[in-house]
Parts: sequence; C-alpha cells; structure tokens
Amino acid sequence: MIFIADRKPNGHHNNKTNKENRTHINMISTANIDKFKDLETPFYYYDLDVLRQTLNACRDASVKHGFHVHYALKANFNPRVLDIIQSYGFGADCVSGNEVKAAIAHGFDKGKVVFAGVGKSDREINLALDADIFCFNVESVQELHIINELAAAKNKKANVAIRINPNVDAHTHHFITTGLDENKFGINIWQLPDVAAALRQCSNLQFLGIHFHIGSQITDLEVYKSLCTRINEMQDWFTDHGFEVKVLNAGGGLGVDYHHPDNDIADFENYFQVFKNFLNVKPGQEVHFELGRALVAQSAALISRVLYVKNGLKKNFLILDAGMTELIRPMLYQAYHQIENVSQNAKSSTTNLKYDVVGPICESTDCFQKDVDLPESFRGDIIAVRTAGAYGEVMASGYNLRDIVGSVYSE
Ligand code: LLP
Repeated sequence: MIFIADRKPNGHHNNKTNKENRTHINMISTANIDKFKDLETPFYYYDLDVLRQTLNACRDASVKHGFHVHYALKANFNPRVLDIIQSYGFGADCVSGNEVKAAIAHGFDKGKVVFAGVGKSDREINLALDADIFCFNVESVQELHIINELAAAKNKKANVAIRINPNVDAHTHHFITTGLDENKFGINIWQLPDVAAALRQCSNLQFLGIHFHIGSQITDLEVYKSLCTRINEMQDWFTDHGFEVKVLNAGGGLGVDYHHPDNDIADFENYFQVFKNFLNVKPGQEVHFELGRALVAQSAALISRVLYVKNGLKKNFLILDAGMTELIRPMLYQAYHQIENVSQNAKSSTTNLKYDVVGPICESTDCFQKDVDLPESFRGDIIAVRTAGAYGEVMASGYNLRDIVGSVYSE
C-alpha cells in the first residue's frame, strides 16, 4: 500500500561498524519506482522501514549505557514521522513554541520535552511553562531572568539547564557550526559567574544541569572527545560553585553518509561509546542527547520528474519539477545529496552524460548539483534526490508561490 498525502496549497507552512553487519537500507527499490510512475511529483518519499531500523539502532545503542535521547523535531516534523519516533519512547528537543505543541500533540511525554533557542518569546515561554515541560535550555543571562519572572507570575518553578558555548570546533560546514565563540548560541564560559549569580537570585528557577550543542553533520567522532573534556570541566565548575549538576546534555549533531545513501545507518554505537568512555558521569547523573539528522535523514528521498532537457554547447541541464523550494540544503550549505535517475529507461541506457541538475525557481542558485554523471535522461524521467529526510520537507517554502511539497509513505 502506498499512501499519498494531499499537496498542501501554498500558505502558512503549518552500529554497526564492522562491514559484515552493515544494515542495507535500499529504499529506492524497483517496486517503489513502479509506484512512483503514477504519482504527481515532486514529493518526499518516506521509507518507514528504514526509519524504524534507524530508531531501533539508536535505541539499542543508547539504552545499554542508560543514555536519554531527545529527538530534535526541527530535523523533520512530518506527522507520520513524529508518531513513529514518539512510539520509541524518545523525548523531544524543541526550538519553538509550535514544536513544543507538536511534540505534545503527537504523544511525546511532556516530562521529556526540552526547549532550546536563543530567541524564545514570552508567549513561547508561557506556553512551555503551562505545558510543564522537562527543561528550558537557556541561552543567555537575560533569558534566565525573563523565565524567572514569567514562572513567578504563574507561581511555578521552571527547570533550567544552561546552554554553554564550549568553543569546540565541530569540523563541519561553517553555516552549521554552533559551538564557537563567534556563534550566537549559548552562554560563553567567561559569563558563568553572572549565570551563577542569576541562578542564586532567581527563586522561580530550578537549576538542572548543563547543555551543549556544537554543530550538525559531525562525522569526525574525535570532535565529541573534545566536547566531553569541555563538559567535564564545566560540570566541575558548577559543582565547585555549589550547584548540583543532575543532567549533562551533549546536544546532537551526529552526521550521516550522504555519499552512500544505501549503506549503513548512522554510527550510533561508536558515537555513544565516546561519551561512555570520556564523559565523567557522576552517580545519579543523567546523560541526555538531542539527535535529529541521524534519526531521519536516510529514511526519505525527494522524488521529482525531469521537465525539460537543455543541451548546450558547454553544458547540459536537467530541469526538474523540484527545486530549492522543496530541498534547499544544496543551495544554502553547498550540501551534497546523491542524485539518481531511477526510471526504467535509465537502467538500460548505455550512454552517460554530465548534467547540471537544476530546479524551476527563478534564481541562479537553484541548482542541486553541477556536472552530475547520469544515464542519458529525458522529459518525464523520475529523479531521486537521496538522503533527504532531515532538514528537507521542514525547510520547504512557498517562494514563487509554489505549492508546498507533499509526502508519500511506504505503507
Ligand atoms: N540540538 C540543538 C540545540 C540544535 O540546534 C540542533 C540542530 C540539534 C540539537 C540537532 O542537530 P542534528 O542532530 O540534527 O545535527 N538545517 C541544517 C542543520 C541545522 C541544525 C540546527 N540545529 C542542515 O540542513 O544541515
């Protein structure tokens, strides 16, 4: 059974490390392509089996160390995806009032909801206070005072963790690095005395612990060793200043292999093992994570059709019916997504050509990738842009007054 959601009219957009044990996640199978033939494109195709395999792997790798995982909704808040992730018992990491609402509406336990973000509005803070979420991850001294005031007005005590900017380089694209001194996120280490003073002063705050998030699409696990060192130092600082640190939250950021979409799911085993080995966890302390991309990226592809083929003297262009309005990552971060012509005729083709694969949007930057080596392609061919389950559908826009991209599920 294949289920197609209505395209939404434009408007508000409401481990396996050893090779023998590889999990093959070949979602774009021939059977699926036959189904795609009759569907209107573009759409996101979700393979819910791949999603479940990924969630199982993450859960198995984390529970054995007693680690708590919060799913970062920002990576994908498609309702079907949320329902499935919630059923695994993960908590939710939210960065807006609407994400808090969505998490709770989809059954995430409010006692496992954390709320981060440098610019939480009063309305969003009030909403989260009313929802009795687990914890605010607080990003400035001023925000501590505001949450305290709003909690006092409701006669409540808000749980807070301090998001510390650890000045650790995530070795990832500079647009998605968050933990350096020059980034807007978190509280810098030199401001911690002010944090301690505010926490002592604010009687409607309950200090729970410390929070970090250094960036996204991190594939070099050494980076996480440096993060562990910094977390250990920071928890010592708080303990030395008389605060009990109950929660260590290491954020998210674990990357996936965009170059091999059918290979392994993310390396959860080794990722959690780094924290097991290098984090100084005190008795009774909880260790929390906020994974987004690694849980959802590989479970979806953007499926589109070739509208036109332009053969030039120097360049051939494949013009798709999907562009930066459906998947903006290549245009915004120069991100690589594997592009495949999955039509039957492409399989039997003996001629390969190089194409610039572009979208229909009136912007020169609306290009998925230049010089892609593909079988000779024709109008109507189906093109899959792989590993698009994270920061894909959720970053779609209505620019050029286009319809918001729809979704299709494997079951
Ligand atoms: N926690 C916090 C505080 C975050 O800011 C983020 C992501 C996460 C957790 C989850 O990170 P993940 O495990 O997904 O790497 N749109 C960009 C990625 C932006 C990430 C923003 N923060 C992209 O398409 O690459």
